[in-house]
Amino acid sequence: MSSNVIVIEHPVIRTKLTELRDVSADHRKFRALLDEIASLMVYEVTRDWPTKPKSVQTPMERMTGHELARKVTLVPILRAGLGMADGVLRLLPEARMGHLGVTRDEKTLEPISYYQKLPPDIAQTEVLLIDPMLATGGSGVAAVSFLKKAGVASMKFVCLVAAPEGIRTLHQQHPDVPIFCAAIDRQLNDHGFILPGLGDAGDRIFGT
Ligand code: PRP
Repeated sequence: MSSNVIVIEHPVIRTKLTELRDVSADHRKFRALLDEIASLMVYEVTRDWPTKPKSVQTPMERMTGHELARKVTLVPILRAGLGMADGVLRLLPEARMGHLGVTRDEKTLEPISYYQKLPPDIAQTEVLLIDPMLATGGSGVAAVSFLKKAGVASMKFVCLVAAPEGIRTLHQQHPDVPIFCAAIDRQLNDHGFILPGLGDAGDRIFGT
């Protein structure tokens, strides 16, 4: 597997991911777990972001601390990416948000882009593209291509569960974009669903 794939191995994440995979988790529980895991992943995903010096007056004296060098944009792939947004924003509350609507054609599994709205200065920011699932990779490729056309130079793809097929496809097209996930699952089935996976994340989040 490419070195540009980072599996965030953490006992708390592993435990919550197992609960979330459970078919008996209803949409309320699924949503809460997805939100918590997304928060926990932020710590690792942002580890190499540069900071710049920032002067601060403590109650005792003035000192030089740090702040993130670049602004942050969070871009969920609709719909399911929305399920991770609040969890990420909790740790990065200053982030702006863009939205990319991409859905898979159920028969061909090809991505269909239906909505795009990005902050005007997105090219100058650190971008986190979020979607719980990387299956065939079609949606991820479409979203990354769109962000690159918008001038984004620094982005990371953050998902919960990735299939080897999706990782391969995304990295064939965009080898420069690191993929962060909580697990790499075994394979896709004939309908493009991840095995063992977690089912259809969008449907489980929204109860559809
Ligand atoms: C799911 C998922 C990803 C995509 C992954 O979305 O949330 O966006 O499929 O599959 P891929 O890697 O094969 O493209 P879906 O198309 O079901 O739309 P939804 O989020 O609106 O339910």
